Amino acid sequence: MSGIIETARQLVSPGKGLLAADESLPTIKKRFDPQGIASTEETRRAYRDLLFTTPGMENCISGVILFEETLRQATASGDPFPQLLAKRGIIPGIKVDAGTAPLGADTTETMTKGLEGLPERLSDFRRRGARFAKWRAVIHIDGDRLPTAAAISANATSLARYARDCQDADLTPIVEPEVLMDGSQNIDRSADVTRATLDAVFKALDKAGVRLEGMLLKPNMVVPGAHSGQTQTPEQIADATLECLRSSVPPQVPGILFLSGGQSPEVSTRNLRAIVRRAGAAPWRLSFSFGRALQDEALAAWKGRSQNLEAAQSAFLRRAEILSEAVRAPSGR
Ligand code: 13P
Repeated sequence: MSGIIETARQLVSPGKGLLAADESLPTIKKRFDPQGIASTEETRRAYRDLLFTTPGMENCISGVILFEETLRQATASGDPFPQLLAKRGIIPGIKVDAGTAPLGADTTETMTKGLEGLPERLSDFRRRGARFAKWRAVIHIDGDRLPTAAAISANATSLARYARDCQDADLTPIVEPEVLMDGSQNIDRSADVTRATLDAVFKALDKAGVRLEGMLLKPNMVVPGAHSGQTQTPEQIADATLECLRSSVPPQVPGILFLSGGQSPEVSTRNLRAIVRRAGAAPWRLSFSFGRALQDEALAAWKGRSQNLEAAQSAFLRRAEILSEAVRAPSGR
């Protein structure tokens, strides 16, 4: 049990956050397509090789979330990725959910798959070097109609079962209930749904006997829906986000690592900086676990061409350094 607590603490070391490089096969294809990169086992390997061998990233990145295929891949010189990361002082983690499926016949609401056979898979991942795991549940807002209480409850229950299975397998769970940022809801509606979701998740975690000291939360920031027409300052977003977290997240949770959720690198960095600055003496450490916002600039610089490798690595490092600076609160927390 002490291992999972120690890993949770290390993942939220001051000035460090996570790189979410756990895109599934359909998702990485979606990221590669606009850059004209074919998604093959080798291009996916070469791309992750580029990211994980970036000099200096260990000063800003405490852990990397891998996809199952990536956990088994290696650098061009033959170092398995999990061992390469560990050698650099970066903790390897693994996405263990199997994506989402519709909750019913005629609804857009979803339920995350992957609980079947999970304990066996977790032991295998741990043997291969993973020290933490991630499971993403998705909550859809549609006016006052969605989410339904049933969707919130089903997703909270499976997140809690996953988290318990992880702790039993000596892996630190990252619990990710993502309230989607698309849609036309205003910030108040986003806040209400985020709070209801977090309340349900922590109730389910408690019921499942999950040790809060040995887990991390990965939530969305509270923002207006992308199609709402509403604009809010980073300070307003920070205050709405912190109000939700203060009312729903117990102080024993060591850290909260935000997802970027489709916000651009600049916008997500600006909002994260405001959240950290305005958090004051919050009980948890606040940082990032970004996918797109950490990678978009590197991917655009790379374009799948080996001659662009250095430019891509320096774009990646630059964003990681800006984020690292953003999460170093003035108080040094
Ligand atoms: P984004 O930062 O691109 O939202 O990805 C984070 C993530 O891991 C989603 O599960």
